[in-house]
Amino acid sequence: MSKPQWLPLIEQQLKENPKALSYAFSTLSEENKPKVRFVIHRGITSSALLLTTTDTRMSKPVHLAHSPTTEIAWWIENTNVQFRITGSAVTIPSSSADDEDKFKEAIKKLGVEGSEEGTKEYWVEKKKELWKSVSGHLRAGFGRPKPGTPLDQVPSSDTWPETIPAESDKPEEQKTIKFAYDNFAIIAIAPEAVEYLELKPIPNRRTQYKRQSNGEWEETKVAP
Ligand SMILES: Cc1cc2nc3c(=O)[nH]c(=O)nc-3n(C[C@H](O)[C@H](O)[C@H](O)COP(=O)(O)O)c2cc1C
Repeated sequence: MSKPQWLPLIEQQLKENPKALSYAFSTLSEENKPKVRFVIHRGITSSALLLTTTDTRMSKPVHLAHSPTTEIAWWIENTNVQFRITGSAVTIPSSSADDEDKFKEAIKKLGVEGSEEGTKEYWVEKKKELWKSVSGHLRAGFGRPKPGTPLDQVPSSDTWPETIPAESDKPEEQKTIKFAYDNFAIIAIAPEAVEYLELKPIPNRRTQYKRQSNGEWEETKVAP
């Protein structure tokens, strides 16, 4: 399978705009209602899966278990381009203790069997890498009360961790890290269609890419 034509476009945009890392990520609720929120882009794998991270206790994993359907809207302000990416998203099992079958199911949904991303080990390592790459303040969020719980039902915020190290030798800290690490999960997105909208050129340009059943991508330029 050749490299999708849209991939170098995203890579180039990120090179020019290294801070443009947030995109709107939509899911379908269990009631089939659209839900959208911003997330941070955390990388693209060699099989062109987009990665972001979340807390397993949030709504996204529940929605994705119900339906992997997703659409992303990513506007890069400086260069005035938008990527609209449609596809399937999967929450990667967050614990390496989770059985092999859960990883196999996630890998199958993403269509990456037989590739680098097609093993449990790949995802266990990727999670470690991403955990280390985020700030201690962001890690602390995963050690706090369940997101969305009314504040009068959780311990006072004075007691919440402010920062959590990636790893520690101290047993007490190790407990906090383990709790937070178990709540931390990767979401992998397998694009099926990508639309690239360029608003700087006049007339504007709009290019659509669609994945074919043989894995190749078809490009169509359309009127903006
Ligand atoms: C700029 C920005 C970046 C964010 N990045 C993430 C992220 O990477 N992962 C995440 O789970 N939530 C992120 N959030 C918070 C989400 O938008 C959302 O409030 C939260 O994940 C709960 O959503 P959910 O209950 O629908 O899962 C971000 C919010 C903003 C404004």
